[in-house]
Amino acid sequence: MNIPTPHISATSPDEIASTVLMPGDPLRAKFIAENFLDNVKQFNKTRGMLGFTGYYKGKKVSVMGSGMGIPSSMIYYNELFAFYDVDTIIRIGTAGSMQEDIKLHDIVIATSACSESSINDNLFANINFSPTPDFDLLLKAYNKSNELSYTTHCGQVHSSDQFYNKLPDGVFDNLRKYGVLCVEMETYGLYMTARKYGKKALGIFTISDSLVEEVADSAENREISYTNMMNLALEIA
Ligand code: HPA
Repeated sequence: MNIPTPHISATSPDEIASTVLMPGDPLRAKFIAENFLDNVKQFNKTRGMLGFTGYYKGKKVSVMGSGMGIPSSMIYYNELFAFYDVDTIIRIGTAGSMQEDIKLHDIVIATSACSESSINDNLFANINFSPTPDFDLLLKAYNKSNELSYTTHCGQVHSSDQFYNKLPDGVFDNLRKYGVLCVEMETYGLYMTARKYGKKALGIFTISDSLVEEVADSAENREISYTNMMNLALEIA
């Protein structure tokens, strides 16, 4: 396949930086481009999945929405890695806490992701492949997050295929017992796709809600915590 791809309208790989930050929401991508990057150029609006390239502290960085869930986001991960010479994708998003000690607005860095997704069914027969991030990027993010004094947790996340339906009885409890930190919907697909192409990936989250505690949030605090996560991602990009 040649560029432009079916879902990204950039006509040259130069329009996209080697590192792409990817929130689920394309308007978040626009917000980041407008508020954190200099000399911004838009490279995509196909299907409303806005993508921008600009400079952060002199470093060329792109930011683009991925949509929600593994099937949507994997279309973009595949096309960016395979056709636009992208080397690194950093997913930035929100996640629901599954542990009492992981509080609203904490930062979670995904050391691995588990999922009920069937994307691997024909790849590894009966072996349950465990997708992992790039270790150097993980280490860099962990050190930078601590340096910035963010409350930071590293561990496995659940990349769920469903937002609304509950997991079967006992499964949620088992995931908690075995130390899964939080639930989101894309990282398993990102880590798989990066491994497929021998590229680098990392998922960083801010906790937006809790599946184990009643929590009340304010718009202001939510904004601050999202900003912290964006800062972290831009610093390691
Ligand atoms: N489920 C899935 N994804 C999420 C959630 C959730 O509860 N919260 C934030 N992202």
